[in-house]
Amino acid sequence: MRPPILRIDPRDIDPELVKEAAHLINNRGLVAFPTETVYGLGADAMDPGAVSRIFEAKKRPLDDPLIVHVAAEKNLYELVETVPPEAKKLMERFWPGPLTLVLKKTMKVPDIVTTGLDTVAVRMPSNIIARELIKAAEVPIAAPSANLFGRPSPTTAQHVMDDLGDAVDMVIDGGRTEIGLESTVVAFTGGETVILRPGGISLEELRSVVKGIYVYTDSELAEKSPGKYPRHYSPRPRVVIVEESGRQIESTLSVVRDSIEGGYKVGIMSKQEHASSYMEFDHKILGPGDDGRTCASRLFHVLREFDTEGVDIIVAEALQERGIGLAVMDRLRKAAAPAA
Ligand code: TXA
Ligand code: MG
Repeated sequence: MRPPILRIDPRDIDPELVKEAAHLINNRGLVAFPTETVYGLGADAMDPGAVSRIFEAKKRPLDDPLIVHVAAEKNLYELVETVPPEAKKLMERFWPGPLTLVLKKTMKVPDIVTTGLDTVAVRMPSNIIARELIKAAEVPIAAPSANLFGRPSPTTAQHVMDDLGDAVDMVIDGGRTEIGLESTVVAFTGGETVILRPGGISLEELRSVVKGIYVYTDSELAEKSPGKYPRHYSPRPRVVIVEESGRQIESTLSVVRDSIEGGYKVGIMSKQEHASSYMEFDHKILGPGDDGRTCASRLFHVLREFDTEGVDIIVAEALQERGIGLAVMDRLRKAAAPAA
């Protein structure tokens, strides 16, 4: 059965609608809701039965832990044992916002949320609808991105419906999400502060608060972080990346021509400044190459558009891995990874 879609205007929130959604959360329901990053699939984090429904709906493996969303700092302390000084500094600077912190969990957090780990990932979203929902439900809300496992994260309510329609109890439509890709996940281990997943807050921004912070490499991740799957964020079409170089346009055109000759339907995802070279082909602009924010906000949207249009191969121009461009390229490389 298709779930009800509640349209909530973030500039004029109807508290009755929020109450309706919160009531579902309090009764083991699954509610998809907007955050500033991507849409989340929410359930009462303290109710293992509700949380298990998230894994079923997404077809998510049971070793991939969830993020718990809170609306106020005081709600953090029933979830985590300790907050290291670096975490405190990052919270003060970036919460509410697209930053997730992995901290030692309390006994109260159900094992299914953390897939048995002794840490829990927590974030305080800035999206006003998300915050009002958490406040009205009066419980922390566990929420992964509201897509089927392995697919690009949803940036509109329609994307959620396309992936999960029948499996959720309600979808809150609060419009297109602002950042367009997920939060940055930061952990504190062995005296170090490390980025497990680049995201909405850039490495440069984090470094302005915690100097030594760095991004874990794939091999460090494979060794130390659970639930890391190389292929992720993938549309049905194959994604081929053309690296940055002085000859990026020529290289892109050559991949495109070869693919078309091979009988494939091709879509190009390009930088705005290169678009005029691709006019004769099916192409979409991601954004200006030096504007990571715009590119991030459009990435999953463009991948899903090509998917819907039945393209076989998406030829994607790489961007500079600076600022939020690092997160854009992280997602793009995972989308392009061969199926395991
Ligand atoms: O922006 C976001 O973070 C969105 C919105 C809905 O908040 N959520 C999201 O959740 O992207 P999800 O489940 O798609 O990604 C959660 C990430 C995964 O990479 C998972 O491995 C990591 O957080 N994670 C969660 N708990 C962890 C833990 N205890 N230790 C290490 N990594 C953890
Ligand atoms: Mg996800």
